[in-house]
Amino acid sequence: MIPNPSNNREISVPSIKAVIFDLDGVIVSTDEYHYQAWKKLADTEGIYFDKDINHRLRGVSRMESLEILLKASNKQYSEEQKLELAARKNFIYRELLKNITPDDILPEVNTLLYGLRKKRIKMAIGSSSRNSKIILENIGLGSFFDAVIDGNMIKKSKPDPEVFVKASAKLRIPVKQCLVIEDAVSGISAALAAGMKVVAVGYGAEDKRAHKAIKDLSAITVEEILDFN
Ligand code: BG6
Ligand code: MG
Repeated sequence: MIPNPSNNREISVPSIKAVIFDLDGVIVSTDEYHYQAWKKLADTEGIYFDKDINHRLRGVSRMESLEILLKASNKQYSEEQKLELAARKNFIYRELLKNITPDDILPEVNTLLYGLRKKRIKMAIGSSSRNSKIILENIGLGSFFDAVIDGNMIKKSKPDPEVFVKASAKLRIPVKQCLVIEDAVSGISAALAAGMKVVAVGYGAEDKRAHKAIKDLSAITVEEILDFN
């Protein structure tokens, strides 16, 4: 609230002017495809991999994810071999992504997106994925967002704040007026490090550091976002 000099009453100014959405696990559930692709690679290489390890890859870049997966291997891989493994995983993943359609958009995402658009709130994607473009196109949101910052545009992956800071700069909205919606612990850390408000959704909802935790996007309204403080 700020004073209104014309009549001495206070007028309400929304504190949040932009929402930055993580993509995987917030807008669309690609987790199972990531899991299947890493699992296939791990099985071929004789490396143990399960869903708990897969959770640790949320928000983390492809090469860093590979490093986490390789911790269960005794074999030493050269940098060249690692690049080949990552490329192989991505090939499997891209094949699986061909199945993604607008039906895979998570519950109430569209309601929130179009509700925020009506209120002229700026919206961006802040994702570690280098496949963001194809995913957004496949779900019919290829040209919806005011900015898309993804794994191809950053030097440091979440938990580094780079992806969100770049999104706020592209939107021309100060970090303090940006709210991030994230499902990954690494993404929550990144948003907090950027000095932004953060709503944890789904898997990330167990992270107590978030300003609000929800099961899915049906549990938050446009009004709540506008009044967020
Ligand atoms: C993130 C996912 O969005 O992108 C991670 O949560 C994934 O699980 C990362 O490892 C990188 O994805 P990609 O598509 O570039 O391999
Ligand atoms: Mg995610």
